Amino acid sequence: MAGPDWNRTGWEWESPDYEPTLPVSEKSNPLTRDIDRASASSIVKMLQACDAQMFQEEAGRSCQRLLSDQVVTTMMEVAKRAELILKDPEDSLVVLSGCGTSGRLAFLLASGFNKELRKVNQSPIYAYIIAGGDRALFSSREAPEDDPQLGVLSLQKVCEGKKRVLFVGISCGFSAPFVAGQLDFCLQHPDVYTPVLIGFNPAHQARDEHMPGCSFTFYSVVQRMQEFATSQKAFVINPVVGPEAISGSSRMKGGSATKILLEVILSAAHAATFSHTAITYKGILQHMRVYETTANKTYAQTEAITALVEAAGQSLRSGRSVCYLGWGSLALLALIDASECHPTFGAAYKDVRGFISGGYRELNNNEGALTLLGPEFGISHEDFLHSFLPSLNEQDTVLLIYTHSDDVSEVLKLARRVREKTPNLHAVYHQSDGDIAASLQDDINKLCPSTLKITWSTPASGCLLHMQWELSTKLVLNAVSTGAYVLKGKIYQNHMIDMQVTNSKLYRRAKRLLQKLSGCPEPRCEEALLKAVYQMDKLPKDITSSDVTTHTGAATNRTQVVPLALVCLLTGCSLTEAKSHLKQQPIIREAVAVIMDMA
Ligand code: F6P
Repeated sequence: MAGPDWNRTGWEWESPDYEPTLPVSEKSNPLTRDIDRASASSIVKMLQACDAQMFQEEAGRSCQRLLSDQVVTTMMEVAKRAELILKDPEDSLVVLSGCGTSGRLAFLLASGFNKELRKVNQSPIYAYIIAGGDRALFSSREAPEDDPQLGVLSLQKVCEGKKRVLFVGISCGFSAPFVAGQLDFCLQHPDVYTPVLIGFNPAHQARDEHMPGCSFTFYSVVQRMQEFATSQKAFVINPVVGPEAISGSSRMKGGSATKILLEVILSAAHAATFSHTAITYKGILQHMRVYETTANKTYAQTEAITALVEAAGQSLRSGRSVCYLGWGSLALLALIDASECHPTFGAAYKDVRGFISGGYRELNNNEGALTLLGPEFGISHEDFLHSFLPSLNEQDTVLLIYTHSDDVSEVLKLARRVREKTPNLHAVYHQSDGDIAASLQDDINKLCPSTLKITWSTPASGCLLHMQWELSTKLVLNAVSTGAYVLKGKIYQNHMIDMQVTNSKLYRRAKRLLQKLSGCPEPRCEEALLKAVYQMDKLPKDITSSDVTTHTGAATNRTQVVPLALVCLLTGCSLTEAKSHLKQQPIIREAVAVIMDMA
């Protein structure tokens, strides 16, 4: 039998020789190697091809995929556990937990399924945990991700008094110590907790790095989870979805696949409990296929998505903003997309902003309104009208994000207000067959130079339609923000180069990137990184002997750390000279390219 053809476009990352020291979630995707030099329409096509990898079938002896037998079977088993809790909810809880995007999606999913319960007059049983608390829903807080004890404390707090807990820990890269701590705690208390782990690396690629004061690693926890899984006391769901389009940016495919897996599992449990529809292999597989169709239908709108990427890219290049004005859960996806730009691209919070109709009232998050924490926490349309609209001009891009089931007259009203300030107004609009508020939509179309309209056929359940809208919106917005930052020159090849270095995972990623781009040995790269972090050309001993946590703490609020370190490494110049170089050439991709040519 012929061996796998690793060279088929997009598959070479599966070869054992391709970036062998990196887990899949950190590898660079061969499909996007040249994304930094691509046009808006090529960027969208590359993202489409990357997303399509999520649904590729398992080939030969490769890793399990989203639609693999083992994955579908484990999903059925977890759905049955959730069904038990839904049928007998007394003193029980389903907890979804994660860091960054994984925690934000935990919030989205817990809120969505609690709403479904309310519709059938049941009390909520879903809770979410996000490392760093609710402020991490809308701003980047990477440091708590490193703290396993904090993970345990927040789990204990949420589960106080509960006798049965289905705990779902999400870590796309099998890496977050916060989640590892929670899983470890669950494994120690099997009488109450059944832990489920969701991530997108093969088990042997889990992170095997000790955090200070902690006896286990993510890897050792995964091993114990697998042992417990043989007697169904724990479950591991870890299909591989291929490397991210921008290396390590797990908000993209990792986030989408998390949403797909949990929605399929929990929808099956709800249908079994409330509509007496048995949980079957076929049913799970069919639901997964609906998401594949959703992705295809979304990317069939390549031209419209390209128009949005171009507009957003133009705004960011001129130093102006991209603003998402949304309704309902689609607006939450917009808030999530906007909040990820800071850690991913070193963005200022004003670059990409999200606003939701109804603000915190609509979100119903654990800690309530966070408006007092600062301007970036003003997320309602009123906040937009007061703080954003007055300074809006034609270089800013505004996206209206809604469905036919939202108050379209309110969309029109807001569109008119925006239009007084800028013609650069666009609509992302979902409708289903037969439900078209035609005249209002016509009026909105007249105000927008481009409208991305997707018409969905009505499925049996309204809930499923909503989930399709959400995934579709996530894909569009991820493409808009990623594409816009690529066009702004924030990506080198397919690496985020102007990234934050605010936790141990990001610190190691930064070091690896410096090694790859400079060709210098690790100690020199680390030294350059620390010089940029501490803003010193000579490092005193107390700094070089400090641990990673100290370094990542010092990196908070620092900007351009990795680009500065790279310029210093390639040219041997001082930090001051590197800063002035980057000031003259703020497009990181160009700055790096020029220096690489010089080196
Ligand atoms: O450290 C920041 C970050 O990489 C976010 O971008 C990401 O959403 C989060 O960590 C969680 O990563 P994971 O799901 O792999 O634990």
